[in-house]
Amino acid sequence: MNDIEKEKRYAQLVKEAAALLDGENDMIANMANLAALIHESMGFWWTGFYIVRADADGTEQLVLGPFQGPIACTRIALGRGVCGTSWQRRETIVVPDVEKFPGHIACSSESRSEIVVPILHDDRVTAVLDIDSRYLDTFDETDARYLEQMVRLLEK
Ligand code: SME
Repeated sequence: MNDIEKEKRYAQLVKEAAALLDGENDMIANMANLAALIHESMGFWWTGFYIVRADADGTEQLVLGPFQGPIACTRIALGRGVCGTSWQRRETIVVPDVEKFPGHIACSSESRSEIVVPILHDDRVTAVLDIDSRYLDTFDETDARYLEQMVRLLEK
């Protein structure tokens, strides 16, 4: 897919996502449908959410949420891997080559590049959207921009 095709496909996807989530406010239902929509439309390797949850002792971790693709790691600590780093920094992280990201957590040996977008409520990260590709250098600012628009739909 070239840059123009990608831009077009995402622009369409944002509209479809807005229509899909309209009228539903259950977070899990919306995450599940959004993961399926993005995954199917873009042909990624793994598309899903990790949700910030507190343990019995109050320690927060990312816990696996709705996703599409192969089975994945269930828990990620703050600051660990790409997901835990995005959570800690409260910013989108684009990883062109997962082998070059210190501390990357390899849930699947097939994954070569990755993007993680944080989801915020009242200035706190409540979840992250994580997407993996089997190819190097899949994600760029276009993915970041549109995926950020799509997760905004979950922040309402
Ligand atoms: N690679 C992620 C872990 C989650 S899986 O990719 C689904 C990370 O480093 O945080």
